[in-house]
This record gives sequence, structure tokens and C-alpha cells, in this order.
Amino acid sequence: MSLEQLLAWIPPGSPDETLARQVNFEQLPAHVAIIMDGNGRWAAQRHLPRVEGHRAGIDSVRDVVETSARLGIQILTLYAFSMENWKRPPSEIHTLMTLLKRYIRLELSTLLKNNIRFQVIGRHEELAPDVRHELEIGIRQTAANSGMLFNIALNYGGRAEIVDAARRAIAAGIAPEDLDEQRFGDFLYTAGQPDPDLLIRTSGEMRVSNFLLWQIAYSEIWVTETLWPDFRRRHLLESIVAYQKRDRRYGGIKPSPVALGAK
Ligand code: FPP
Repeated sequence: MSLEQLLAWIPPGSPDETLARQVNFEQLPAHVAIIMDGNGRWAAQRHLPRVEGHRAGIDSVRDVVETSARLGIQILTLYAFSMENWKRPPSEIHTLMTLLKRYIRLELSTLLKNNIRFQVIGRHEELAPDVRHELEIGIRQTAANSGMLFNIALNYGGRAEIVDAARRAIAAGIAPEDLDEQRFGDFLYTAGQPDPDLLIRTSGEMRVSNFLLWQIAYSEIWVTETLWPDFRRRHLLESIVAYQKRDRRYGGIKPSPVALGAK
């Protein structure tokens, strides 16, 4: 993707344009993961039922998915429903599942238009048959797309993923001495995908909430006070500009200009 292609979609003279011009397209994060949080607080601030926050959050999902694809992000992972979310009232769970099914049905054409491939990570086999059915349609119809991979984390837990990976490695007959970090990664839900470079969390909470525990070992974390239903293209661009100013060292030290042969 190029700046021109992104600008074609952004109102000229808007703050989004200024931000888009600050993005270095040569150094985009390959994988962006987002903990979407603050839907309930957004609704409470408006004296609305919590589910209205989730409903409004769908507009943010739409905006972020399309912006990411247009930017040229390779992988976007959204945390939509954790294994712990089953503790919520049944009516809220029902609304979340209904919104998810409706999102896939209504957005399929946008996913196809933007060459986006859709996938689910998490224990999706435990979801209700009607939800699985809708997910399978989305996965099947977008399977041949070669653009951005859009992972939705559903009935997802980071520790459960590691347990599932260990079980799969054992079932595959991997000898303990043959198992290393790289090999183990092949049994995760995200097998074959680069780890997230950038982890975004909305609503100001400083937690990782059991999300991609293995994969975020070296991710840059960007937390915004913005509540998820207010999160838009502008915030995603802000996070990428901030990410590009970070100094990623992966536990090493920054090579000095002298060591690099600079005069
Ligand atoms: C956290 O807000 C948000 C969720 C648990 C669900 C996010 C789901 C959606 C936006 C809709 C479905 C998603 C897709 C990808 C179609 P919260 O309820 O924990 O907010 P609070 O912390 O303010 O109470």
C-alpha cells in the first residue's frame, strides 16, 4: 500500500491526513493486535445499556479493519471474546454473538473488496453451532484472498492456547528434545504468522488480559485512554506513528554508530 492509496480514502486537510503523512510505509508493523476495551464504560457515560457499547464498537471494528488493510498491515488480530467473557450475563453474551454473526454477514463484501482473509483463533469448536456456521462461511469465502489476514480471537485464552499447543505437540509425537521455541510456535493458533509488533489496548487499562501471551514477548505496547467505540482510523495512525519512534532491541543493545562503521 502507498501513501497515495491511503490518502485517496482520507478527507483532505483532516487531522487524519496529517497523521497519514507521518507514517513510514517502509517500517509498518507486520502484525497489529488490539485489545478492544471500554465498551461498557462508553455506554455507561451515555446512560445506555452495556450492549449499546458493543453495538457502537462494531463501527470501530469496521474502520480499523479497512484502515489496516489499506495501510498494508499484513495481519490484524482483534480480541473479541475471551474465555473469561462467559462469566458475563447471558443477555450480553447473546448480543455479542449476534453482533459477531451480523458483522460477518454484512461485512463479507468489504472483506472481499479489500482482499482480506478472515480467520478465527481460540477454542471456536466450543461456540454455538449457529455462530460456527457463520464463521465458517466467512472463513471459506475469504480463504483465497491474498491481502491482510484478519484474526478474530473468539473464546480465546492465552494460557489455554499454550496448553492446546502442548497437547498438539504431544499428539504429533514430537520428542521432548526436538521441541524448541520455533517448533512450539508451529502448534499455536497463530502458526506461521509473525508475532505482533504492536499491541494496542484501549480504555487506559494496563493489562494484557490473557491475550496472545506467547506471541507478545517482544511486542511494543501502546495504551490509549480512548474507549473502543470512539477508536477510529486516527487513533490507529497515531499508534503506528508512536510505534515507529520506538527503539526495539529484543533484549540486546542498540548498535553504536561507531560499531556500524559511521564516521
Ligand atoms: C470490552 O469492553 C469489549 C468486549 C468484551 C467485546 C468486544 C466486541 C465487539 C466490539 C463486538 C464484536 C467484535 C467483532 C470483531 C465483530 P467491556 O465490555 O469489557 O468494557 P468495560 O471494560 O468498559 O466494561
